[in-house]
Amino acid sequence: MLEHKYDFGLVGLGVMGHNFILNVADKGFSVCGLDLDQTKVDSLIASGGDAAKVQATTKVEAFTKALSSPRKIMLLVPAGKLVDAAIESLLPHLEKGDIIIDGGNSFFTDTDRREAYLKEKGINFFGSGVSGGAEGARRGPSIMPGGNKEAYQHIKPIFEAAAAKFNGEPCVAYLGPKSAGNYVKMVHNGIEYGLMQLTAEVYHLLKHSAGLSNEELAATFDSWNKGRLQSFLVDITAEIFNQKDDKGEGHLVDKILDKAKQKGTGKWTSQNAMDLGIPIPSIDIAVSMREISAFKDLRVEAEALYGKPTPKSVDKADFIYKAEQALYFAFIITYAQGLNQLAEASEEYGYELDMAEVAKIWRAGCIIRAALLDDISKTFATAPKLKNIVMAPDFVSKLKETLSATRNVVTYGAENGIPLPGLSNSLTYFDAITSGRLPLNLIQAQRDHFGSHTYERTDMEGIFHTEW
Ligand code: 6PG
Repeated sequence: MLEHKYDFGLVGLGVMGHNFILNVADKGFSVCGLDLDQTKVDSLIASGGDAAKVQATTKVEAFTKALSSPRKIMLLVPAGKLVDAAIESLLPHLEKGDIIIDGGNSFFTDTDRREAYLKEKGINFFGSGVSGGAEGARRGPSIMPGGNKEAYQHIKPIFEAAAAKFNGEPCVAYLGPKSAGNYVKMVHNGIEYGLMQLTAEVYHLLKHSAGLSNEELAATFDSWNKGRLQSFLVDITAEIFNQKDDKGEGHLVDKILDKAKQKGTGKWTSQNAMDLGIPIPSIDIAVSMREISAFKDLRVEAEALYGKPTPKSVDKADFIYKAEQALYFAFIITYAQGLNQLAEASEEYGYELDMAEVAKIWRAGCIIRAALLDDISKTFATAPKLKNIVMAPDFVSKLKETLSATRNVVTYGAENGIPLPGLSNSLTYFDAITSGRLPLNLIQAQRDHFGSHTYERTDMEGIFHTEW
């Protein structure tokens, strides 16, 4: 029997759960953790110190009895069956009005199913994205909750205290009903995939064409991080280039196998964008590149078979200058695509997302935090119904300014056999959506030719078919 009543409960004492509890406790709330693994329970009790502030147990009943009413229980367990299992184990011990928050990367339709199921039982369910990794959980993550608006009032003080702060504003907000929070987190991860792919391409270019050493790469990314590209991913990239290998000579980055894994959130973003009919090619290709990276043996054999052109020599300083512009251009396009998907999903699924708020809560704590997000949130604040930031005056000037360098960089990659699919997809997306007339009239003609699928005309109303 635990002696105190705790403000907040958390199930799953892995690194994220452990750290999030300590973060919440630092903010003055008492927290109780639950995990079936006694070593994790012991480790939390040891880190927590004062048992009146931080407690943990392996027993579900003791855990639920120790929580003040309405119970606010967050799950930080791997997405999938374990979330359902955790919910089922808690249910017999809960009362109407209690709150369960899934803080993992659950697929949004699973969240909708769980929300409806728990609603019947009088339990409020929140799907809440949490971004920022282990460090974010401890020091302040970006939190993306969705669910019942009234019930959110119970968790709001805890989340606002625990979240990262940007200029004093907490990086958390009630986002919308049902799976709004999980959906926003899914797209956050899609954008994350896109930005990571883009930084990897620029690394490839700078290393193999401009011949930058790891020290020079670190200095370049570090200086970019002090400018308009300021972001978590650019910052850690500089740090990565500085890391020496503790198991041998040289830098660690050069020893890491070039096969990127994935847990699926980027793929889900792409799949759902297809369902919505929203093009996000910069994110799609980032998923495909992780898949291509897995074909290591084939890639090595194919390189031997086809060879590679020797990259044309370049002026280092000029190349770095252009690469910065191309990366900035493609970062904007990647955010634009992800946010476009969110705006459409909001209508389709009735999330009623406040896009300025979404951009605001991504300004600190999360993996895609970047100076650009402050500009994006200001843009949406003045134009809440904007579907694509590419159309906003501030972004028109940013894109125009960096377009020519982006064309140069992408052309260089194509001519020298350096794959830059994220950069070139971003450029192609831009060129396509800024083309008043595309050659898709021909596709309509072909469809009508082979399948009588009909077409519309530019000069008269109606649906037409031709015997070609
Ligand atoms: C975050 C991250 C996190 C994600 C990892 C790994 O916002 O903190 O998005 O939720 O799980 O980045 O993702 P992949 O294994 O799919 O690369």
